[in-house]
Amino acid sequence: MSEAVQTSSQFTPRVFSGIQPSGGLTLGNYLGAMKRFVDMQNVGNFETIYCMVDLHAITVWQDPEKLRHATRELCAGFIAAGIDPEQSILFNQSRVPEHAQLAWIFNCVARMGWMQRMTQFKDKAGKNAQNASLGLFAYPALMAADILVYHATHVPVGDDQKQHLELTRDIAIKFNHDYDTEFFPVTEPVIEGAATRVMSLRDGSKKMSKSDPSDASRINMTDDADTIAKKIRKAKTDPEALPSEAKGLEGRPEAANLVNIYAALADMSVDAVLRDVGGKQFSEFKPMLSELAVEKLAPISTEMARLTQDAGEIDRILDRGAERAREVAAPVLKKTYEIVGMVGA
Ligand code: TYM
Repeated sequence: MSEAVQTSSQFTPRVFSGIQPSGGLTLGNYLGAMKRFVDMQNVGNFETIYCMVDLHAITVWQDPEKLRHATRELCAGFIAAGIDPEQSILFNQSRVPEHAQLAWIFNCVARMGWMQRMTQFKDKAGKNAQNASLGLFAYPALMAADILVYHATHVPVGDDQKQHLELTRDIAIKFNHDYDTEFFPVTEPVIEGAATRVMSLRDGSKKMSKSDPSDASRINMTDDADTIAKKIRKAKTDPEALPSEAKGLEGRPEAANLVNIYAALADMSVDAVLRDVGGKQFSEFKPMLSELAVEKLAPISTEMARLTQDAGEIDRILDRGAERAREVAAPVLKKTYEIVGMVGA
């Protein structure tokens, strides 16, 4: 194998993560992912690459006009939340063909049995799995390619992506083993903070999701102050007062969810929040949470709406991001082709 092949310790510390432009952004996406992308950008230890994964979005049918709008709006969301498109590389997936090209190689590395175990496919395909797209089934191999085409070492995500990141590690390990190389890093998932799994406001056992039919179950990043306050006021809770320690939230999923949201928005630990609010009733805590949510989210949604109006500027940012992303991805794909034996790579 040639001199360019790196061993794990030699990989540049590099963060990659992505969000689907299917529908709008939720508070779950913001707290579980985007806010943490901004933190990882700002600590300065990493190169950071963030992506609107439009090729993933079409694993279920998307209206083309809406997809274009959602991609631009998501780009605006990244910037409004604090991603600096100069400091980080910000782009949409379909502009960098190396993702899809590496995904094909990984389709040939991943095993059917691995893919069949993916719970997200089972959830999304539902009872009618025979009618799901092949893309939906193969999706985790594309996700592995998204990450590994940049030799990313760290991937911040919410808890629901954990299994996909384990598969990414398995693909890297199997590729390295099958071709007797250490070309791909074994990526670290970064699933941290109080809000790795923000739950539905209507049902503490279900994840907050953009695909939930009930809009009252989630806070959208585009909701105005009144809507946010109303959704929090109506959020399901239990009749007990808040406990003073995290242990007291056990078996109280709705209460735990609201406290976790508060902690993540305030950048506090759950214990620190409960030291302040322990003993309070929800009638007192909910207005505090609404006020904090509006204070933190309103500037983002206002800026997001402003930026979304200038599609020309968004497209220029995405052009530049794709160009920079390709500079990193192209040599990795070329080397992969060489390793697997493609003539002329
Ligand atoms: P997606 O678009 O469903 O969600 C984007 C990010 O938001 C997180 N998230 C949540 N976190 C906490 N609580 C919630 N209720 C919640 N809902 C969503 C997700 O965990 C995710 O981090 N497959 C990915 C996109 C993807 C990707 C990648 C991610 C494609 N390629 C490569 C990382 C690296 C997805 O569908 O995320």
